[in-house]
Amino acid sequence: MELALVVLLGVTAVCGCGMPSYPPNTNRVVNGEEARPYSWPWQISLESFFPTCGGTLIAPNWVMTAAHCITFHTYRVVLAEHDMDTVEGPEQSLRVDKMIIHPKWNKSCPSCGNDIALLKLQARAVLNDKVQPACLPKQGSSLSHNYPCYVTGWGRLYSGGPQATKLQQALLPVVEHSVCSRSDWWGGSAKTTMVCAGGDSESACHGDSGGPLSCQGKDGKWYVEGVTSFVDGRGCNTAKRPTMFTRVASFIPWISETMAKN
Ligand SMILES: *[C@@H]1O[C@H](CO)[C@@H](O)[C@H](O)[C@H]1NC(C)=O
Repeated sequence: MELALVVLLGVTAVCGCGMPSYPPNTNRVVNGEEARPYSWPWQISLESFFPTCGGTLIAPNWVMTAAHCITFHTYRVVLAEHDMDTVEGPEQSLRVDKMIIHPKWNKSCPSCGNDIALLKLQARAVLNDKVQPACLPKQGSSLSHNYPCYVTGWGRLYSGGPQATKLQQALLPVVEHSVCSRSDWWGGSAKTTMVCAGGDSESACHGDSGGPLSCQGKDGKWYVEGVTSFVDGRGCNTAKRPTMFTRVASFIPWISETMAKN
């Protein structure tokens, strides 16, 4: 217990998290929009032969993503990416050295939860005005109903639509567990280790698997509260089917121990 506490302090002490040099547009456009360049400086692109998923920088040499994103043997992480089609200059491309998938992840059952993985980078990212880790939430902390969070990524703009080349963002208000787990919503697929957000017909589906759900805390810092996990099979704009995220606040001890041991 004491060790866990020390480790936890070590993680939260990563200086300068969650304070973008280029503040994101938070004008509450519900349908998605292009993000202000570099306003989500913890957003990474996870690439194998091609971009496959999003992820979040949580320390100079650690990225958090979804377990279901890890299907190949080798990956690299691109930081300070905005337009995928252009080399804009500030990008940093780092090889992934170790991939640690949550031991309870079951790839036959995404709705069982534990859809989280940590990637140790071969080198530390150079932190600057365009690259900065997100803050991790406190263990067990939760978000109130309708808390405004943002999903980001290069994912499809709407179900079946084309991939975006420029980073997109969309406001996704949190749907509290008691609502999300109602039988006409996600029912038993909504676990307390997940965060539900969005889910009305206005919500866009920007975002990629593995990418962050970023929420600004009362202290002004941005916290990565969710890892994009799954959407309804009928599409990402289905009513009463919010996007499902792995709830980062449920995995802080595992994250701390994994980073300390590797
Ligand atoms: C994984 O999920 C599948 C489908 O729900 C289930 O049949 C299987 O027993 C699970 N495996 C483990 C190790 O829990």
